Amino acid sequence: MDTPIVAVVTGSNRGIGRAICAALVQQFPGPLVLYAASRAGTSFDLTGLTIPPAVKIYPARLSLTDQASITALSTMVSREHKGCDILINNAGLYYFQENITAAQRQETLDVNYRGTLNVCQAFLPIMRKNGRIVNVSSQSGQLKYFDHRLQKRFLDPDLTLTELDALVNEYSTSTLRPHPAGPPLAYFTSKAALNSATRILARENPHLLINCCCPGWVGTSLGAQAGQPPKSIEEGARIPVRLATGDIGKISGRYWANDSVASTGDGKVQNF
Ligand SMILES: NC(=O)c1ccc[n+]([C@@H]2O[C@H](COP(=O)([O-])OP(=O)(O)OC[C@H]3O[C@@H](n4cnc5c(N)ncnc54)[C@H](OP(=O)(O)O)[C@@H]3O)[C@@H](O)[C@H]2O)c1
Repeated sequence: MDTPIVAVVTGSNRGIGRAICAALVQQFPGPLVLYAASRAGTSFDLTGLTIPPAVKIYPARLSLTDQASITALSTMVSREHKGCDILINNAGLYYFQENITAAQRQETLDVNYRGTLNVCQAFLPIMRKNGRIVNVSSQSGQLKYFDHRLQKRFLDPDLTLTELDALVNEYSTSTLRPHPAGPPLAYFTSKAALNSATRILARENPHLLINCCCPGWVGTSLGAQAGQPPKSIEEGARIPVRLATGDIGKISGRYWANDSVASTGDGKVQNF
């Protein structure tokens, strides 16, 4: 029997994360071991899924604000399988309101940016050659929403993770918006930082394909805060699943999306 592909998906208990797991399970051409990670980590909802014999799913505990849980999962995957092929960082949160508290602002940055980066760093040493990391970001992180000076800093081709961290700290400790025109919400900054981190990690790890994407505007509790989302969770899973398993050539360190948040395609490279 072929060696199974080992995949980890965060935030798999609901929303787009669950749809990503369902798509992987149903579409994967060969043996697959899937760690369906969630904060509770106790079970994975198998409703409506037919699990092919070559697929094994294990629920796993991972909280983006609990480094011990992140380290424990990468240690376990390494011990059981000696490596990981696919990591999909899907978990995230959005306080969809203008005036969030300082604690909510910090949590947004800690979960969407720092926590996701911590997962990447815990798994990078065990990623197999040609492995793939997909960071589920958002069009809200696109730099068109940011002022010119910030665009330049986020896009600096030599930006390091230490400098990126300092940039995010500047934002999180400021009581002012960096610019009256944006970024208006901590969510925007968290996803812009995640996109820059993706670019840096791809530059530092040329043996892997590391990309980020916007799933579109999807009918989840997160997406429904902004109105009536046009896309189903299955449609929202398409770009992340493509970046994890589809033919993307050797493209790494890029941001992928459809031309609009309502489009249901498989995505293409777009501007950061
Ligand atoms: N829906 C959209 O329209 C849309 C648009 C653009 C980008 N996105 C991105 O897509 C991703 C998935 O969002 P969704 O729409 O599926 O949202 P969702 O239904 O609200 O699900 C969010 C998932 O993230 C998990 N999560 C939140 N905080 C966490 C933490 N500290 N540690 C571990 N897991 C945590 C949640 O776990 P719990 O159940 O334990 O809370 C849940 O599994 C997010 O990164 C989001 O930013 C979504």
